[in-house]
Amino acid sequence: MMASAAQLLEMKSLTLLGSTGSIGVNSLDVVRHNPGLYRVYALAAGRNVDVILKQIIEFQPEVAVLAAPAEMNRLAAALSDSGLPRQNWPELACGPAALVAVSTVSAVDMVISAIVGVAGLEATYEAVCLGKRVGLANKEVLVSAGQLVMTAVAAHHAELLPIDSEHNGVHQCLRAGNRDQVSKLILTASGGPFRNTSKHALQSVTPAQALNHPTWKMGKRITIDSATLMNKGFEVIEACWLFDFAPAQVDVVIHPQSTVHAMIEYSDGSVLAQISATDMRMPIQYALTWPERWQAPVPKIDWKEARHWDFEPPDFDRFPLLKLAYQCQQTGGSATCTLNAADEIAVESFLNGEISFPAIAAVVEETLSRMANRQPRSVGDILEIDKESRAMARSLAVRQAAAAQPVPVRA
Ligand SMILES: NC(=O)c1ccc[n+]([C@@H]2O[C@H](COP(=O)([O-])OP(=O)(O)OC[C@H]3O[C@@H](n4cnc5c(N)ncnc54)[C@H](OP(=O)(O)O)[C@@H]3O)[C@@H](O)[C@H]2O)c1
Repeated sequence: MMASAAQLLEMKSLTLLGSTGSIGVNSLDVVRHNPGLYRVYALAAGRNVDVILKQIIEFQPEVAVLAAPAEMNRLAAALSDSGLPRQNWPELACGPAALVAVSTVSAVDMVISAIVGVAGLEATYEAVCLGKRVGLANKEVLVSAGQLVMTAVAAHHAELLPIDSEHNGVHQCLRAGNRDQVSKLILTASGGPFRNTSKHALQSVTPAQALNHPTWKMGKRITIDSATLMNKGFEVIEACWLFDFAPAQVDVVIHPQSTVHAMIEYSDGSVLAQISATDMRMPIQYALTWPERWQAPVPKIDWKEARHWDFEPPDFDRFPLLKLAYQCQQTGGSATCTLNAADEIAVESFLNGEISFPAIAAVVEETLSRMANRQPRSVGDILEIDKESRAMARSLAVRQAAAAQPVPVRA
């Protein structure tokens, strides 16, 4: 699609945090399909040198950031091998300070925050503090530091546009009416691969089964979080912060077709829904073009085809992490930061085959019960609580793993 002269005049510049991940790759596809929309200023990733190399050659950013010096050196070698003339190389950088630098530089209008976990927090927070437009996919930012980030959004008049499909759906629905007359937000959940699996059978599900999400193709952490419904719990927390609702005003409903993304209920009982194909490029493009809407490279729903959509309540007994998320948001303070940190460690242990699927919830619950709640006042406080919670969760996961080992038989 050719850009119009008017569009070219308005071309903005973008830093993409997490460019090699599922959201990052989809974001670049949106940029690719809308050549007049954004120029890529910086690409930032962790360790995937092969993918960022291809992205650099195609999008020619001014800066490329990787997680650590070893990856940066690998990228320099790969650029050399690629034959890309040196004058076309981006500046190479690494580590958390470089993430902050590319997110706060005055040349950048918008930051897409799509790093997984708290590694993306500081850069996202600093971009908000400069009043930039931030497209937020990284839900851990609000789960771990919601109070801090939303206070900064208000103080600096930043535009925080949700890319998570459910929150993006809520954002779209809320444009239709008066926020004060909305009584409820309803977030849908696919239910994940174990929607119909019995509690007993959950004991023996494998990482491969848990990674087999029925409707969405995503990174590993969020895919396992979708299987435990922890992801939906994080989304409840994220929704409370983004739209200023109490946890009791945010409902979750299982909708296996993942086509209705969110609904809002008005005080008179009328409900509005946001419906679109299961394709993350729609919410990404919405954040990039808001308040306008452009043609998006996503399939449209064909209403000539017969279809049916199911809705059912979630099972808090089989998926206790969803309930725990509500409780943590109600508790406030550092509870949700610990929830996120402990879950990340427990998911890692499960993926490594060390603990069972139900043990993910057990590790998270016990970590929460052992960590004192406190009021974080800075990104530094959050990172400290995150570190302590991880250490606690790690030791509890090791204990769980040891308890699950069969006792060796002595000769
Ligand atoms: N995927 C979805 O459909 C979806 C939907 C809604 C929300 N989200 C949220 O969006 C975020 C990203 O999800 P995803 O599915 O795209 O995850 P993903 O595929 O695992 O990608 C994660 C990205 O973060 C980068 N990264 C990790 N650690 C880093 C570090 N220390 N420094 C710099 N970059 C680092 C990774 O780089 P390397 O791969 O190069 O190591 C990768 O680019 C998550 O918070 C997730 O909950 C995702």
